[in-house]
Amino acid sequence: MAGFEVFGKEERKEVMDVMETGVLMRYGFDAERKGIFKVRQFEEEFAAYCGGGYALGVTSGSAALKVALTALDVGPGDEVIVPAFTFIATYEAVLEAGAIPVMADIDDSLNLDPDDIINKLTPYTKAVIPVHMCGAPANIDRIVDVARKSNLLVLEDTAQAVGASYQGKKLGTFGNMGIFSFDYYKTITSGEGGMVITNSKELYDRSDWYHDHGHDHNLKVSRAMEGRSILGFNYRMNELQGAVGLAQFRKLDMIIAAQKKNKNAVKELLKDVPGLKFRNIPDPAGDTATFLGFNLPDAAATERFQAALAAEGVDTVCFKRNKWHYVPNWEHLLAWATANSKKFPFTNPAYRGKVDYSIRLIPKAEDILGRTLFMGIPILMSADKLDKIGQGIKKAALQI
Ligand SMILES: Cc1ncc(COP(=O)(O)O)c(C=O)c1O
Repeated sequence: MAGFEVFGKEERKEVMDVMETGVLMRYGFDAERKGIFKVRQFEEEFAAYCGGGYALGVTSGSAALKVALTALDVGPGDEVIVPAFTFIATYEAVLEAGAIPVMADIDDSLNLDPDDIINKLTPYTKAVIPVHMCGAPANIDRIVDVARKSNLLVLEDTAQAVGASYQGKKLGTFGNMGIFSFDYYKTITSGEGGMVITNSKELYDRSDWYHDHGHDHNLKVSRAMEGRSILGFNYRMNELQGAVGLAQFRKLDMIIAAQKKNKNAVKELLKDVPGLKFRNIPDPAGDTATFLGFNLPDAAATERFQAALAAEGVDTVCFKRNKWHYVPNWEHLLAWATANSKKFPFTNPAYRGKVDYSIRLIPKAEDILGRTLFMGIPILMSADKLDKIGQGIKKAALQI
């Protein structure tokens, strides 16, 4: 579930390395930092883990989305296809870039339906953001295929699926760019933090410049004399985030292995519940097992089962009823209640499309999400806890 469960001496050691130099900024202070570059090291190890390419640490997963969209030159007048089931940050980032998020349906992987991309295409569609929800891959090969044929850029939102893969290739590396989150709920955490990855030197450079006020990071001159070709902003990761992130990252494979073991144990307990089906995961070997998703034949039975489990102390989430992960529940988005009173970019005169977030456009999400429950899978789970979950499931199953 979350990397904080396994905080230990490794995180403390990396943080103390930084505190001993007193240099909390990732750039500059070469004399004082005594060769300590935690963010840079985190980026290098992360990029290698993803199979090469470039990685850039930033302040959050939301910032990573904004930086990547900007690097891809997504902006005012553009539309970006985004699944209806995601955390709100994916939509917010598109709006922050000045573009319009277009809601698309999901398939039984509970991630973006490749077949719905075509339905949502308009002359203004520039990119698509598949989101790998709850630790498991979307049908990413088909999504990339459809996107290529339609001339769309692909940005993978892998905020919830660091370390996951599809057919042996790490998620985040299938499209033009990928992003990750290390917020406090995530599989590995630096408190807040994010990463942008890409195989393109050009996209990396644009991300690197944009995330630090345009600085070209020419190491041959002092920071004060660095050049620039575009304006940017500040989304820099700091050394304390880099230190914690690095220690957590080195535990990632251990975390995934522990979650897989625990998820299999919980699956065993659920498998005989009448009518219950597990979420379809396109490549189960590539799942990070942060969550176990399952569904029942109808929404009423699902609600009864969820209530009965809760009464037994077994927590589950129905994302269709959750306020932050399903577009139809975002009354402020539906009302175009942007933080600017002009409601930009919805009211941008240069935007020629038509915004439509009606539920008739996402029939599969409406059906399947209402019948689906998710259970968070901890990294550390005692035999006693597992036993209690088993007893809870048995009692709850009688009430479906
Ligand atoms: C799918 C998805 N995208 C983006 C984000 C944003 O990440 P952060 O919280 O680091 O800004 C999250 C965070 O929950 C997420 O789940």
